[in-house]
Amino acid sequence: MTIQWFPGHMAKARREVTEQLKMVDVVFELVDARIPLSSRNPMIDEIINQKPRVVILNKKDMSKQSETDKWTQYFKNEGFFPVQIDSKHGKHLNELMKAAKAATKDKFDRERRKGLRPRAIRAMIVGIPNVGKSTLINKLAKKTMAKTGNTPGVTKKQQWIKVGKELELLDTPGILWPRFEDQVIGKKLSLTGAIKDSIVHLDEVAIYGLNFLIENDPEKLQKFYQIELTEENDVVELFDQIGKRRGMLKRGNEIDYEAVTELLIRDLRNAKIGNYCFDIYEEMKDSLYETKDN
Ligand code: G4P
Repeated sequence: MTIQWFPGHMAKARREVTEQLKMVDVVFELVDARIPLSSRNPMIDEIINQKPRVVILNKKDMSKQSETDKWTQYFKNEGFFPVQIDSKHGKHLNELMKAAKAATKDKFDRERRKGLRPRAIRAMIVGIPNVGKSTLINKLAKKTMAKTGNTPGVTKKQQWIKVGKELELLDTPGILWPRFEDQVIGKKLSLTGAIKDSIVHLDEVAIYGLNFLIENDPEKLQKFYQIELTEENDVVELFDQIGKRRGMLKRGNEIDYEAVTELLIRDLRNAKIGNYCFDIYEEMKDSLYETKDN
C-alpha cells in the first residue's frame, strides 16, 4: 500500500510514536539491510531521543553480508545495539532478545537496586513502510495476526504481545515516513520496494539498478540475462540486449522498454540476480559524519 505522506500525517505519526514511547523500555528501529541508512526515517534520532535502541537490520537474507556487517559496526559505534535478522523466515530472533537485554541492562540494574521486582522488557517497533514490521511482529507473536495496514493515524486499542517471559511487544508498530527529498534515496527505496511505483520514475529506477550492477557485479549481470557488457555499456543498448534475450518485443520487433524496466526492477527487488546492499558504506561514510558535524 502506498502512503502519500503529508505534513499532517507526519505530525500525527510522530505524535503517536512519541506517545507509545512513554510505555516502552526500548525501541526496535527496523531498517532494510539492503539500504540500512536510506530506509531510516530522517528524524528518527530526534523522535526516539534518549530511549535505548536496538537497530534491526531486517531482510538480511537479501542483502550482501560483508556490507551488512559494516553497517552493523557503524550502528554499534553510534551507541545503538544492532542485530541482523530475517523476519520472513524467523531467523536470528534470539539475537534480538540478547540485544534487547543489553540495551536495557542499565535501566533494569537501576530498578533492581531500588528493590523493584524483575519484569519483562517492554518494546515497540518503529520504521518506514515495508521494512518488515508486521512480519516481525507476527513472527514474534508466533501467529499471524490481522495486519493493521500502513495507514498512519489508524487508532485502535494497543495490546502487549508476550514474547516468552522476558519481552512484551506493543502489537502496533510506529510507522514513520521515509526520506523523500533525495533523488538517489528515492531510487533505492523503490529498488527495495519500500516506496511503490507511482512516486518515482520507474525508468530512472531501472537505469540506476542497471548501473549499480555494471559497477558492482558485472559478471552476474551478464550471466543472469545472458548479455555481453561492452566498453561503453550504453544503457539503451543493454536494455535492447535484455529485451531480445527475454523476447520482450512489441509489434514491429521493437524492444518493449517498459517490460524490460519492470523485469529489472522485479529481479532486483526480489534479489533474483544476487544479494546486494545499495547503501555502500565506503561511499557514504564521509557524508555520514559531515552531516553529524553540522
Ligand atoms: P511493514 O509492516 O514494515 O510495512 O512490512 P511487512 O511486514 O508488510 O513486509 C513487507 C514485505 O517484506 C513483505 O513482502 C514481507 O514478506 C517482506 N519481508 C519482511 N521481512 C523480510 C525478511 O527478513 N526477508 C525477506 N526476504 N522478506 C521480508 P511482500 O512481498 O509484501 O509479501 P509476501 O510476498 O512475503 O507475502
